[in-house]
Amino acid sequence: MAVSFTLEKELSRDEIKDLQRKVRKLAEEKRAVILAHYYQRPEVQDVADFIGDSLELSRKAAETDADIIVFCGVRFMCETAKILNPTKKVLHPNPESGCPMADMVTAEQVRLLRKKHPDATFVAYINTTAEVKAEVDVCVTSANAVKVIKKLPAKKIVFLPDQALGGWIAKQIPEKEFVLWRGFCPPHFEFTAKEVLKLKEKYPDAKIAVHPECHPKVVELADFVGSTSQILKYATTVNAKRVIVITEVGLKYTLQKKNPEKEYIFPESMNYCGTVYCCTMKGITLPKVYETLKNETNEVILPKDIMERARKPIERMLELT
Ligand code: 13P
Ligand code: SF4
Repeated sequence: MAVSFTLEKELSRDEIKDLQRKVRKLAEEKRAVILAHYYQRPEVQDVADFIGDSLELSRKAAETDADIIVFCGVRFMCETAKILNPTKKVLHPNPESGCPMADMVTAEQVRLLRKKHPDATFVAYINTTAEVKAEVDVCVTSANAVKVIKKLPAKKIVFLPDQALGGWIAKQIPEKEFVLWRGFCPPHFEFTAKEVLKLKEKYPDAKIAVHPECHPKVVELADFVGSTSQILKYATTVNAKRVIVITEVGLKYTLQKKNPEKEYIFPESMNYCGTVYCCTMKGITLPKVYETLKNETNEVILPKDIMERARKPIERMLELT
């Protein structure tokens, strides 16, 4: 699906407050839970019942007893919520907000790869479509990948679609053979070692925290590598006044709220969509959240057989962690 965002007029502080009040009122009336990823806009994070990384949000979606889940994140996250809790109405405030990395591998490509590597266990990053999940043995997130893959009996692992995360995992599990798909997360993979070194030169006392979706040359410079939640924990508690944070800039809002005593420095270079952030994550806006919940539109619907097959690798991941 093409990604195109209609420009929305900038809202005043009062308009934001008013919409946020309306969203919360609707959520209570309709018994809806609002889940948001850390990369969401601050005004969207502020109406959420729960903010988390991919793993935490999957868990929340699986266990909620709300009637409606409004998922403020990208499409694969909404699909995962629907797969894990199929009787709920899952609403995606912007159906055009997909993850470019998830779209870098198709179910057909996985089926072909299976023929080439019949002896391998197929591991998919949670950042994949439901159709791809339906073809693999187990899913992982960046928070649990090493732990899950170490527990698998197979010697040979086909990991998809993120080459950066796959390479980082492979380094930590040298006893296994890895075949990596060549996908990547555009915003993370485009941070360069040069700009990180420049920031370190400017702030020599700062610690460096990096998401494993980043290029290996950037990961090499890190004092800490981890998922978004793991970075949040590290950066707000590490014994350093400043932390250079190499992940999507949406996290800055939570970092500052959690520990305002520290300074968090993010790279400022533009990525492929001419922004410093993940443009599809930011495709979820407060007016869209409001309209979607009010009219109960943009419901996530998946074919039953795909849901059943895709549930197995996700549940296997949750069991192994
Ligand atoms: P985590 O939330 O697991 O850190 O993944 C980052 C990401 O890019 C989500 O799309
Ligand atoms: Fe996909 Fe990267 Fe955006 Fe996450 S940050 S949604 S992995 S493109």
